[in-house]
Amino acid sequence: MRHLMSPLDLSVEELDELLALANDIEHNPVKYAHACEGKKLATCFYEPSTRTRLSFESAMLNLGGSVLGFSSADSSSAAKGESVSDTIRVISCYADICAIRHPKEGAALVASLKSSIPVINAGDGGHQHPTQTLTDLLTIYSLKGEFSGLTIGLCGDLKFGRTVHSLIHALIRYANIRFVLISPEELRIPDYIREDVLHKNNVPFTEMERLEDAMPELDILYMTRVQKERFFNEEDYVRMKDFYILTKDKLTLAKEDMMILHPLPRVNEISVEVDDDPRAVYFKQAQYGVYVRMALILTLLKWR
Ligand code: CP
Repeated sequence: MRHLMSPLDLSVEELDELLALANDIEHNPVKYAHACEGKKLATCFYEPSTRTRLSFESAMLNLGGSVLGFSSADSSSAAKGESVSDTIRVISCYADICAIRHPKEGAALVASLKSSIPVINAGDGGHQHPTQTLTDLLTIYSLKGEFSGLTIGLCGDLKFGRTVHSLIHALIRYANIRFVLISPEELRIPDYIREDVLHKNNVPFTEMERLEDAMPELDILYMTRVQKERFFNEEDYVRMKDFYILTKDKLTLAKEDMMILHPLPRVNEISVEVDDDPRAVYFKQAQYGVYVRMALILTLLKWR
């Protein structure tokens, strides 16, 4: 039995197979309509979510399976003090596979250690969000055709943005990737990623504050929201929240075929006027999230 805590839990070959399966699911959905008949997915969400929880549920329903779960800590027995370890032991009696989101880093790992069903980390604090990374990779692969040779700008809250941390981990395994890390001083990428991931693996990267300076060289611009829920005080959040706003004017500096990704939800960091630009693919990205989660559920149940 395998769990998914980080994108690195999958080898490059396994990842390629998963993306190929997701691609086949996109083009031949009927082939998979009964693939999980009789199987149940539990979604245990201790933190708010729209895309991750509902795309997991949509994925399982598309596969002919069923779903159960809770969407907040308050509506589960966590509110009475039950531990994640106890909860997963119980969920293991009710479902065949579980996706868990929790505000504490490492909570999904704790669950996996006590689980007798595959556990998928659907986001643990500011740490990792591997299924968002699978979604991002499928989007890039489907729309660009490859990962190698890309210059990728990651913009916004690089300190708390777990999607960015997971994406960097996954992409450094491909050749000739270059990162431009665009953030205010206070929201720079954590030292452990700069040192242990980028420097250690000789991955080229630059850090800068102005989005306009980075724009002309980017093949992909990955915008992120300032993570309000991870700030210790409201004042710091308010100071940072509108630091970057992508507008049509700023896009005049970008390549014609640059792709704009965003894990969503968006707050102010992309002006709605950008949504009609053909380079804006963030809503398409949310659709790819269903295909890749279908592929992941099928794969983890097969490995069980
Ligand atoms: N991208 C993402 O994780 O969105 P949700 O918080 O809505 O699940």
